[in-house]
Amino acid sequence: MILVTGGAGYIGSHTCVELLNAGYEVVVADNLYNASEKALDRVEEITGKELTFYEVDLKDEEALRTVFENEKIDAVIHFAGYKAVGESVAKPLEYYENNLESTINLCKVMRDHGCKNLIFSSSATVYGYQPVMPVTEEMPKQPASNPYGWTKWMIEEILKDLHTSDPEWNIILLRYFNPIGAHESGLIGEDPKGIPNNLVPYVAQVAVGKREYVHVYGGDYDTPDGTGIRDYIHVVDLAKGHLAALDKFMQNPGVAVYNLGTGIGYSVLDVIHAYEKAIGHEIPYRIEDRRPGDLAVTYSDPSKAERELGWKAELGIEEMCRDSYRWQSQNPNGYQEEENAE
Ligand code: UFG
Repeated sequence: MILVTGGAGYIGSHTCVELLNAGYEVVVADNLYNASEKALDRVEEITGKELTFYEVDLKDEEALRTVFENEKIDAVIHFAGYKAVGESVAKPLEYYENNLESTINLCKVMRDHGCKNLIFSSSATVYGYQPVMPVTEEMPKQPASNPYGWTKWMIEEILKDLHTSDPEWNIILLRYFNPIGAHESGLIGEDPKGIPNNLVPYVAQVAVGKREYVHVYGGDYDTPDGTGIRDYIHVVDLAKGHLAALDKFMQNPGVAVYNLGTGIGYSVLDVIHAYEKAIGHEIPYRIEDRRPGDLAVTYSDPSKAERELGWKAELGIEEMCRDSYRWQSQNPNGYQEEENAE
């Protein structure tokens, strides 16, 4: 039985689908701070299977203990956490408190129940600026540029220390590049609160006429078209990476780190044009100033995950845009039924 923290969120819900499809029993713990219980209903609709849901906040250690007392958890996939870069700059204390405390509680409760298999949702942000591309797992981590990034950075270190203290732990750190897209059913997808911070959710809202044009942050980077380059990965491929990581536990890997990306870099304009192609009409955009803290280019070398996990991203930018649009057009207000009051 697998506990998925943050299982009602964007990446969590897609991972629940893959877990259920593969025959795992799934328990979700989520405080619904940035997620909807409807996502879990949709997961059950897609898979025709049931999962067990606990509405708990991981900061509530006692509530978390109840989950472990009621369920026989073999491994945990830990997605739960605050994740907005800009918000983390405005609210550093809340970010450090929430992300660190919830992870520490989770590990304490896991330890007390003899469950020592953990997959952590880390981020390419821990690499910071690297002079050489693509990014491999061996490259040294660089200082983060915001509190959100530091929480991912620090949690990785906390988990490594935990393994040092007790080698029975198996800890897999998955460093995600830029997850986009949605399940091909169009039933689950990314549902950002308010104005989207990330590129593709914003493009999706322009595509359906909810917003006027895309703000392209910087046209003067040292890249072929002057816009920033990222390694976008279909969220379903990303979800499948977690299943491959679960299989790795059989080999007692200790601490293992994997990039989850495609290894291909696309610029902001590449993404906008791919989206236009997927939907058959133009997407207006304007080139504006750079966004503080953004890197010009980052993309992964995903070959370690292929070698050691037998996992490789299979879906391309066309599928990412097609599925993003399907979700956006079928659910113009995300999981909310009424028009979002923004
Ligand atoms: N961008 C725009 N307009 C927008 C939003 C983004 O031009 O409205 C550009 C950015 O400048 C960047 C690219 O689109 O070049 C991608 O930006 P995102 O915000 O979608 O993604 P980031 O690469 O900035 O951030 C992602 C994750 C973070 C993580 C970071 C570093 O969202 O959680 O990667 O790993 F910290």
